[in-house]
Amino acid sequence: MLTRREFAASLLGVAGAALLAAAPSRADTPSLNDLARRSGRVFGAAMRADQLAAEPALRKAAAAECGMLTPEIHLKWNSIENRKGSIWYEPVDQLVAFAARNGQKVYGHALLWEQSTPDWALRELKARRNWRLVSDHFERVLGRYGETIEVWDVVNEPIDTQGGRQGLRRNTFHRVFGPGYIAHALETARHYAPRARLMLNDYSFEYDNHVEADRRKTFLRLVADLKGRGVPLDGVGLQAHLDLGKGPLKRPVIAPFMQALADMGLEIYITELDVKERDYRATPQTRDARVADEVARYLDIALDQKAVKGVTTWGLSDRHSWLRIERGDRIDRKRYGNPAPNRGLPYDAAMQPKPMHQALAQAFSGGLT
Ligand code: G3I
Repeated sequence: MLTRREFAASLLGVAGAALLAAAPSRADTPSLNDLARRSGRVFGAAMRADQLAAEPALRKAAAAECGMLTPEIHLKWNSIENRKGSIWYEPVDQLVAFAARNGQKVYGHALLWEQSTPDWALRELKARRNWRLVSDHFERVLGRYGETIEVWDVVNEPIDTQGGRQGLRRNTFHRVFGPGYIAHALETARHYAPRARLMLNDYSFEYDNHVEADRRKTFLRLVADLKGRGVPLDGVGLQAHLDLGKGPLKRPVIAPFMQALADMGLEIYITELDVKERDYRATPQTRDARVADEVARYLDIALDQKAVKGVTTWGLSDRHSWLRIERGDRIDRKRYGNPAPNRGLPYDAAMQPKPMHQALAQAFSGGLT
């Protein structure tokens, strides 16, 4: 059987493939979101309002390429209310206004995440054990943005099969309220945003190893349990932080996992796509080809699943990537100089589109028939 890519290539022929691979700056070239839209999907990227304000080239690319923007940090509790009672909506408002000017949707990330909970709130949660703290936060954020923003990561990264309890991360919410905090968060979100679509968002579901197999199984068990109990869960965010050190991506691993989610009636968003490099010793061309190939492989599988409604990259440009060189990564500074930054996003640090951009364009076009 032909893969989506092979099928698209056979339809388009060499000239068509070359057109799709053309640089996206030409006005007559369809944007990534144009291509995604043709198969009923949306392409988006995580953005920061301060970076958009400071960088015209980023603004231009974000406006042209994206149908959806995810605030990378501004909607998190520790950005909105870093000091108790001192509320900071400004960067969210700026991003929402930018999106509105460009006819883009905004993806709500993230209402509840241990790592982005302000210290004062963690202290009070432990001391008072009162859900009211969480529900006040939800009421505030959803009261302001719950109509404009249609899709929300209600709980971010609840799974931990290694150090967790029955697969659930031992975070402050779990410690204070027990495993029921996830259902409670979804119900609270539904209360304050009756029309929003509510998601759980998590990572490391892609590769063929024991840890990720456990994570997939645990995640499926969790969402099946929530759905079975009638908890308001509309979909899942699969972060898809791909990693060139984890071996090949395999269709028999990823496709059944996504199918099981789809069978439960859940929407799927790929929420934080990027690629971590492990071997930085090659030329930029080789590194870019490896990154693009990984993305092509992943999307070849993911976009065969109709429940996948959108693909968001975690930033557009390598310049802003959160990915860093880590211990154990292979580098040869003497020969190749400083390999930073990681090259796992569609545009390089100078805002030039890379082969990953072409991989995205071709993957979205594979759905065109
Ligand atoms: O803006 C402050 C700055 O004033 C201060 O001097 C500096 C000192 O640490 O911190 C700056 O804030 C940082 C912020 O990024 C902006 O750079 C925070 O410390 C830092 O924690 C924050 O990191 C973000 C992280 O989430 C935590 O919110 C990353 O940019 C963002 O890419 C990352 O995104 C997460 C997703 O939300 C969930 N999935 C994983 C993904 C990557 O970690």
